[in-house]
Amino acid sequence: MTDSSDVLITEVGPRDGLQNEAAPVSSAAKVAFVEALVRAGVRQIEVTSFVHPSRVPAMADAEAVYAGVRREPGVRYLALTPNERGYERATAAGCDAVAVFTAASEDFTRANIGMSIDESLERFRAISREAQRDGVAVRGYVSTVFACPFAGPIAPEAVLRVVEPMLEGGCYEVSLGDTIGIGTPADVSRLLDLLLTRVPADKLALHLHDTWGMAAANTLRGLDHGIRSFDSSAGGLGGCPYAPGATGNAATEDLVHMLHALGHDTGLDVEAVALAADAIAGSLDHALVGRAHQAILARRRRLARAQGAA
Ligand code: HMG
Ligand code: MG
Repeated sequence: MTDSSDVLITEVGPRDGLQNEAAPVSSAAKVAFVEALVRAGVRQIEVTSFVHPSRVPAMADAEAVYAGVRREPGVRYLALTPNERGYERATAAGCDAVAVFTAASEDFTRANIGMSIDESLERFRAISREAQRDGVAVRGYVSTVFACPFAGPIAPEAVLRVVEPMLEGGCYEVSLGDTIGIGTPADVSRLLDLLLTRVPADKLALHLHDTWGMAAANTLRGLDHGIRSFDSSAGGLGGCPYAPGATGNAATEDLVHMLHALGHDTGLDVEAVALAADAIAGSLDHALVGRAHQAILARRRRLARAQGAA
């Protein structure tokens, strides 16, 4: 965060966004996307994911992308690592910050990473031990915090059961994933009312998908509970290949526009984020859906036309 920033945005577009894209995006375009987002002020960014390449083909070039990014001081460049093999690949590529992930739902964990929640926590502890030895920072994710695409509603207690061991095991922060974007502000309150009795707010982040259009409302509710760390993806890119129906993440431009209007400081230049997203959109087979993203580009086109006419 910059000195005056009070809200941390973790940009997940290059990973959560691009992992779901059917069109092949070149490694060079991915590297340029990461670097443009950092120039826009991003201080924590998920660059790629060292998962099994046959499971998520869009992340098969993780080594080339991670090693290709020119690193700036003061920026945390994360990579998703599901197991020890992923951790070894990530650190061999020069990674010093990893994100481990599990879920509050057994069915989702099984579909996503082929193991039970308890097994995934064992895997996490093994990674965490290596990370502590190597001086690598570990961020945690808990998916399906409100509902699972297979098992339906998830009780807040099931989330707490996973969040606590992740923090005790060394995660500097745990991000709560509304994987299928179905939570409402009432769900956010129910979950945070329980978690915050056991965990400080500054150890939690919200990772909201915008499938049902609730991401901004849920962010507001998170702010009301003292959460100051939010994940989002430029242009609203995103989805999870193992969550049927999951669409894009909360769009970075939407969140930043709202947060700045409320007097918060994210350290991000929202126009520069929109331009970074517009550049990667050139590699995709569809337009980006983020509302503020579209509004910013439309305003730029109007201004350019007006200047051309003057
Ligand atoms: P597995 O097949 O059960 O692994 O996959 P295994 O341990 O049985 O090993 C089988 C083979 O895979 C072995 O090779 C391993 O070396 C290899 P062999 O000996 O047969 O030649 N292998 C690997 N190769 C490369 N990289 C690795 C790796 N691990 C094993 N890391 C695994 C288990 C977890 C790897 C697999 O299920 C997987 O890759 N899943 C990825 C799922 C995924 O990426 N999902 C999307 C990200 S999560 C998400 O989007 C949610 C989030 O955004 C939050 C939210 O929105 O809620 C974070
Ligand atoms: Mg996600």
